[in-house]
Amino acid sequence: MKLKDKVIVITGASDGIGKQVALKLADQGVNLALISRNKTGLKETQKETQKKGAKKTKIYPCDLRHTAELKSTVKKIIADFGKVNILLNIAGIWQKMMPAEEIQESVVDDVIQTNLTGLIHCARLLLPYLKKQKEAAIINVVSKSGVVAQAGQSVYTASKYGAKGFTDVLKVDLKGSTVRVAGVYQSGTNTKMFSKVGDSPPVEKFTNPKDLADVIVFMLSRPAKIWLREVHVEY
Ligand SMILES: NC(=O)c1ccc[n+]([C@@H]2O[C@H](COP(=O)([O-])OP(=O)(O)OC[C@H]3O[C@@H](n4cnc5c(N)ncnc54)[C@H](OP(=O)(O)O)[C@@H]3O)[C@@H](O)[C@H]2O)c1
Repeated sequence: MKLKDKVIVITGASDGIGKQVALKLADQGVNLALISRNKTGLKETQKETQKKGAKKTKIYPCDLRHTAELKSTVKKIIADFGKVNILLNIAGIWQKMMPAEEIQESVVDDVIQTNLTGLIHCARLLLPYLKKQKEAAIINVVSKSGVVAQAGQSVYTASKYGAKGFTDVLKVDLKGSTVRVAGVYQSGTNTKMFSKVGDSPPVEKFTNPKDLADVIVFMLSRPAKIWLREVHVEY
């Protein structure tokens, strides 16, 4: 897809992988609608994308766990840009590793509502607009934990297996439409996702988020008759 002038919604754009994807896309002359909770982080990404040549960047502080907030965010995005071509579902949180019975009730709810329900609502609320476009795409940044069971990650993995299932059915449902769907299943990436909840895996060994952002922009920018529907990335 030619990315110039496309309107791209990115969730999780204040930090980590989402921020790096926004920065990589900026020099392609795109319009960016950036979502996350933290306004300060979003403003920083906005400033940097504008410096790198984004056509227009607008920020939308919004908590994906609150669907009413997301609905009004989608309305604002459509009012501001008039259309959406691409949704990049990147926002997500880690669940500190521990046996299932030790995981707090609030952590279960937060992880599922952010990584799974939030992702689903973003897609279902934007699909009516995406379907109107001649070229459109949804990329869900899932995780290796969407396809492999790993110890101590029960709730995170449940959210990611759910995201994989949702992605797979979207792909089937949207066959024959103009909306392409893909999932990214990456292993560890060197962001602050783990330290935010008090885990400390050896992130220095992990994939650089800038390199993962390259992969996502590569997926989007293939010629019309090439679509990478599932990409597995390992460090
Ligand atoms: N890092 C890894 O090793 C790794 C590996 C596989 C998959 N992933 C997946 O990749 C995605 C990005 O992770 P990352 O490593 O970039 O994490 P990160 O650096 O912690 O960034 C997460 C982003 O999600 C946003 N976010 C979190 N909760 C939110 C909510 N309730 N509403 C709106 N935005 C929210 C955060 O912004 P605010 O805090 O401002 O809301 C932030 O912008 C996640 O889905 C993660 O599960 C990561």
